[in-house]
Amino acid sequence: MSLRIVSLGKGIPAHRVSNDDLAAFIDTSDEWIRTRTGIESRYVCRDESLTDLATAAATEAIERAGLAPSDIDLVIGSTFEGDYLTPSLSCCVAERLGTQCPAFDLNAACTGFIFALEVAAGFVERQKAKRVLIVCAEMMSKHIDWHDRSTCVLFGDGSAAVIVEPGEALKYISISTSPNSEMLSLPVGTGNSPFVHHGKTKGFLAMEGQKVFKFAVNVGAVELSKAMSALGMTPEEIDYFVLHQANKRIIDSIRAKVGQPEEKFPMNIQRYGNISSVAIPLLLLEMWESDKLKSGDVLFLSAFGAGMTAGSCVIVWG
Ligand code: COA
Repeated sequence: MSLRIVSLGKGIPAHRVSNDDLAAFIDTSDEWIRTRTGIESRYVCRDESLTDLATAAATEAIERAGLAPSDIDLVIGSTFEGDYLTPSLSCCVAERLGTQCPAFDLNAACTGFIFALEVAAGFVERQKAKRVLIVCAEMMSKHIDWHDRSTCVLFGDGSAAVIVEPGEALKYISISTSPNSEMLSLPVGTGNSPFVHHGKTKGFLAMEGQKVFKFAVNVGAVELSKAMSALGMTPEEIDYFVLHQANKRIIDSIRAKVGQPEEKFPMNIQRYGNISSVAIPLLLLEMWESDKLKSGDVLFLSAFGAGMTAGSCVIVWG
């Protein structure tokens, strides 16, 4: 198929918030959060903007690839809200980097990285772009209700960037949507239009936790079996299952269905919480930095998110 990953970078806020820090102002405990989610801490923006984080991630990825910003042919941002609704986050990053190529955002919530890879593959295959910079970035801390213990303990802020080029590494990719606006949502307000009868103020992220949990476990297993039958492979042939980092118990439940060993399911949710579409590229970056990834390793990437969106791909590393 059309592409390979050549570099990655990250932008993480300076301020780390532990479970005990949260327990100081809401009715929760380190014990509850750890055992129900696997999360021990998360990073939260204080002084950084989302553009700061995303630009840091993009710059690191470009430098690690030995490239200049002028070598990038397309910037795809994955976020559900940048520092502005317009211009898009990717335009703000492009301005900081000094690129002159097209830049736009897509919003597929936590599945955004897989959707962005699919879009990038299309541009590369049609030879409309050679090097695509995908920047995933999310400031969850501005979308959650800090008085709601059932959601605010789950999320964190951050950014991760990936550069892809033409190559043969992407063996399979699939994206899907099972439309549902109730299970997981973040309402936008109606502003101050004098013509609206029932105005709404901007809301906070709301979710039906147990329904999302079931959706995630089911879709993770379905995505894997679709990929395996498309490629004529078995899960035994996958070296790492790089899954969306939303809840350790979701990952453990998928692992139980797949019947593969724990060491094939890397996690970093304990340190970052759920950073939406940033989770998978950030985990890939950490595996790459720690030399866990060897050339030829077969990776199954899979995510789910609001929409309800889902997506997966199989990549051969190197
Ligand atoms: N601290 C302490 N207690 C908490 C709590 C917290 N942070 N959050 C909820 N509780 C309480 C509830 O009030 C409830 O109390 P009750 O039994 O007295 O009514 C109890 O814990 C159990 O709540 P429940 O919602 O049944 O817990 P759960 O085991 O389903 O875990 C989630 C809740 C949110 C962690 C879990 O459902 C989940 O991870 N869902 C998927 C969410 C997700 O992935 N979202 C992102 C998608 S990209």
